[in-house]
Amino acid sequence: MEYRTAGESHGPALVTIVSGVPAGLALSSAAIDSDLARRQGGYGRGGRMQIEHDRARILSGVRFGRTLGSPVALEIANRDWENWAQRMAQEGRPPHDLASERSPRPGHADLVGALKIGTQDCRNVLERASARETAARVAAGAVARACLAAFGVEVGSYVTRIGDVMLPAAEVERKGGVFASAKVESSPVRCPHEETGARMTAAIDAAREAGESLGGWFTVTVQGLVPGLGGYAEAGERLTGRIGGALLSIPAIRGVEFGLGFRAGTLPGSQVHDPIVYREEPGAFGRIGRARNNAGGLEGGMTTGEALVVHAVMKPIPTLMRPLGTIDLETHEATDASTERSDVCAVPAAAVVAEAEVALVLAGAYGDKFGHDALDDALRAFESYVARIAVR
Ligand SMILES: Cc1cc2nc3c(=O)[nH]c(=O)nc-3n(C[C@H](O)[C@H](O)[C@H](O)COP(=O)(O)O)c2cc1C
Repeated sequence: MEYRTAGESHGPALVTIVSGVPAGLALSSAAIDSDLARRQGGYGRGGRMQIEHDRARILSGVRFGRTLGSPVALEIANRDWENWAQRMAQEGRPPHDLASERSPRPGHADLVGALKIGTQDCRNVLERASARETAARVAAGAVARACLAAFGVEVGSYVTRIGDVMLPAAEVERKGGVFASAKVESSPVRCPHEETGARMTAAIDAAREAGESLGGWFTVTVQGLVPGLGGYAEAGERLTGRIGGALLSIPAIRGVEFGLGFRAGTLPGSQVHDPIVYREEPGAFGRIGRARNNAGGLEGGMTTGEALVVHAVMKPIPTLMRPLGTIDLETHEATDASTERSDVCAVPAAAVVAEAEVALVLAGAYGDKFGHDALDDALRAFESYVARIAVR
């Protein structure tokens, strides 16, 4: 499943076109809106989240509640647009002094983007580089999530670290790395451990007070994946690379680990690789399984049938209320970076965006293996494959 997005942060709307969606999938804007609301939540978000309550409008690809097999186009209106209509006008000349737009913010695309496209007006870059664009990704991801649900697949995420506050590893191990979504969604920081969550919100409060920002870590989990998605034969088929690349395409994501992650490089092989077992009780895909899941659900670039467990690190939000130094691109004088309304911490939201990215890759992998045309055909192919691998 592929998607493109368009739209500026303060333009009239964001749009996305999702292709490779099979015909016959039940899809409603309500399902998309619930994911959009999850992206907007999370303690530490900026004032904009109070202004915007994102809603998706389905523009194409759906009739009588079911997909047609044609591209699904979605629009999310920017409710703040009317306050920006003059500064973001598509015609005419800028109505304001550009001086305020000439100071690129460290940690953002502003400076290199302005050099790249030949402008001193950093807004020409930052409007598109803004993570507002991730709302469109989440909308696209909701289509993928609906498709995955038809194959019994569930995608979730949780936050494991904000600044120096960390979910104890023992808690994660106790739950086998997968937490109930109700526990996560009821936490203001999407951390399933209440006491850690409270310390995370306190850390965010302290950062806000200090004019600082915070990053953190999160984990995306996917349950119910059939073994054999992706591929080992060609570099581009390997889900390790496709999922890793998809997560690293999210603004501010600086690293990705699967399963045991970087610790795998510190332990001998016998403690890293997952023994293969023949189970007494068959699982959803037969009796062959793993004694543990250090691999995080991927081996040889393919799903193993165990839960996919992928971790990512987000850098601290670069817009600071106590700004770092920068220069005016016209005068070259030193100045402070601008302090546009901003999140203090967006790790909980980034985890929701990451769910969408992972869902899109995996829905595409189901389509590659079982067919992209009609959901019913794909489900029949899926059932026949599951029956074959179950008896081995
Ligand atoms: C969900 C989400 C929300 C974000 N919110 C903000 C924000 O409010 N202010 C900000 O300066 N950066 C925010 N960022 C991070 C920037 O978009 C990002 O750091 C910047 O575009 C530069 O890209 P890079 O970090 O990948 O180099 C957010 C990122 C995500 C994923």
